[in-house]
Amino acid sequence: MMTGKLRDLHQALWHRLVNGGTQKGDPFHNFVLGSMRNDGNCALRTVVLRKASIESRSFTCFTDIRSPKVAEIWSNKQRLSALFYDPENKIQVRILAKAEVHYSSEWTRAAFANLNIASRKNYATIAPPGSAINTRSNGLSNPFKREEIVVQDTEQFVKHFAVLECKAFEVDYLNLNGEQGQERARFNYNEHGEIEGTWLVP
Ligand SMILES: Cc1cc2nc3c(=O)[nH]c(=O)nc-3n(C[C@H](O)[C@H](O)[C@H](O)COP(=O)(O)O)c2cc1C
Repeated sequence: MMTGKLRDLHQALWHRLVNGGTQKGDPFHNFVLGSMRNDGNCALRTVVLRKASIESRSFTCFTDIRSPKVAEIWSNKQRLSALFYDPENKIQVRILAKAEVHYSSEWTRAAFANLNIASRKNYATIAPPGSAINTRSNGLSNPFKREEIVVQDTEQFVKHFAVLECKAFEVDYLNLNGEQGQERARFNYNEHGEIEGTWLVP
């Protein structure tokens, strides 16, 4: 059970994530997603926060099913980490999460249907993201390099489109400009959705 300020903080930080998912200019709109590579190295990359939900304590991002991050997440018990940073307020949120990879489903088709042509092109490369190529290129086939393609031309790329639904199980919050100066708290969610929270030494 959490009381008072800790509970308020928990609500406030998830509201920040919800806003990050809806507002392009928000510092939480992009976050760093971390996964574990098979060689033991930690892989980091920037992604766009598409949606966050305070009720399910989850957040989503879109990716190409062929990208290495998907395999890395799968081979590490679907675990990933996420780093959000607001430089103006000096707030850092780190989340450990378990990801569901949604692919070729009603949900992914509906999400893809809402993407514009420019976004759909992210899923249109001939070879998987990260493949070596001989020349400097965006990896698209010639017709899709052109500007004048229409949205119907891009429907086929739903086959590469995936949604990562990330269910948080631990959240670490740090605010360098808190009421008490530097403030840090950790929240854990168990499988029944119950929260445990504690203040931490920053
Ligand atoms: C501003 C920015 C936003 C990005 N957003 C996404 C995204 O939402 N999803 C994604 O898969 N890659 C996104 N990328 C590209 C990734 O950072 C990464 O290069 C790519 O997904 C390949 O990652 P991987 O090889 O580790 O799987 C973005 C890159 C930048 C710079």
